[in-house]
Amino acid sequence: MTFDYARRNALKKQSLEILADNRRSSGAYHYTLPSAEHYPYQWLWDSCFHAIIYAQSDPQMARAEIVSLLSKQFENGMVPHIIYWTPGILHLFRWGVEGTSSLTQPPMIAYAVWEIHRRHPDIKFLEAIYPSLLSYYSFLVAKRDTRGHHLVSIINPDESGEDNSPRFDEPLAASADISYEEHLALRTALIDKNRECGFEAEQCMRDFFWVKDVPFHAILIENLRKLGHIASLLKHADGEHFANLQAALVERAMRKHMFEEGVFWSLSGWEYKKLKVATWAHFAPLFAGLYSDEEAGALVRDHLENTSTFKAPFGIRTVSKQEPSYRSKGYERGFSWRGPIWMAPHWFIYQGLIRYGFRREARELRDKSMELLVRSGFREHFNPETGEGGGAHNFTWGALILDMLEDGHEI
Ligand code: GLC
Repeated sequence: MTFDYARRNALKKQSLEILADNRRSSGAYHYTLPSAEHYPYQWLWDSCFHAIIYAQSDPQMARAEIVSLLSKQFENGMVPHIIYWTPGILHLFRWGVEGTSSLTQPPMIAYAVWEIHRRHPDIKFLEAIYPSLLSYYSFLVAKRDTRGHHLVSIINPDESGEDNSPRFDEPLAASADISYEEHLALRTALIDKNRECGFEAEQCMRDFFWVKDVPFHAILIENLRKLGHIASLLKHADGEHFANLQAALVERAMRKHMFEEGVFWSLSGWEYKKLKVATWAHFAPLFAGLYSDEEAGALVRDHLENTSTFKAPFGIRTVSKQEPSYRSKGYERGFSWRGPIWMAPHWFIYQGLIRYGFRREARELRDKSMELLVRSGFREHFNPETGEGGGAHNFTWGALILDMLEDGHEI
């Protein structure tokens, strides 16, 4: 099939327009809203996606997005997942402490910083933010790993970025059919628990929600490696050693505790119980190269290409069609991470496929992503069976298509 340049150019134009429309400033800080109407704040992994996209054409804005994200870092190193820059507007997600949330999100910051530097080298920028990066990743591997087993806990489903994924139904005691309101109430109750403990999460949350999530770990490992590259460039030998050692230790722990039946499973509680819900989390470790070539081949053949589980007419379902919790319609808001396609998982899977050399599969995923954006616009998520868009409009994640297109039509 010949590559559709006109389509690519139109999507590029639209992506950059949405990012520009959603851009905001607060004093010296500049950031981008995931969706002006639905999400009027700055979000952690969203900002990393924005920075990765800006890195192509606007490195200054890419750096600004990271600088504002790090500007509200906690003393203990945590980077909050939401910054409420304009507290006056819509008090949705008011889960926080003084202008921010009390949670974090998948730690994509070092990866985004490395992408910016790779395209537009700037050692001064790296020097300036390195202490914040080191302190964030040190926080994760120290404070969220109370047993020293190199598995890092999330304290709320929202820290996974997949708020209502059925991976968390069991630890939340949620049913497959739980409504949006009921689900939100369970998650806000967790925030209240943490608040009661004075936000000393590691002392407190392990009794309520203490999950080791597969995508979070895969993302952590790849980001620790990028942190290692950054430290090496800056000649911070200790930081380089720390980052590379932690990446290796977390990788080994994932293999030991999470791997079974050819895939990785998230874990819950003290006994590291596997949460056996089939979701796109099976594919996230491709992003960090955590499967052997042989395992990756079997994963792609048996799961990614399997139309009765993950492979849908319009892309990859976030939850297997065989799961009782599978719902194709994300616009029934409560079900958004219970099946619908999201562009970030597509992007992670795409990167993973490229890493392993699955070029045909990568191309197909990229082309389906383009098709969705052309057909339904830059929506928050998409019905895998019909391609229909759901959730927020003018949602920035669609712009990740620019990063998928960057490797070009050649793939
Ligand atoms: C939704 C998503 C989350 C994202 C946020 C802002 O809550 O589940 O991953 O960060 O919106 O876009």
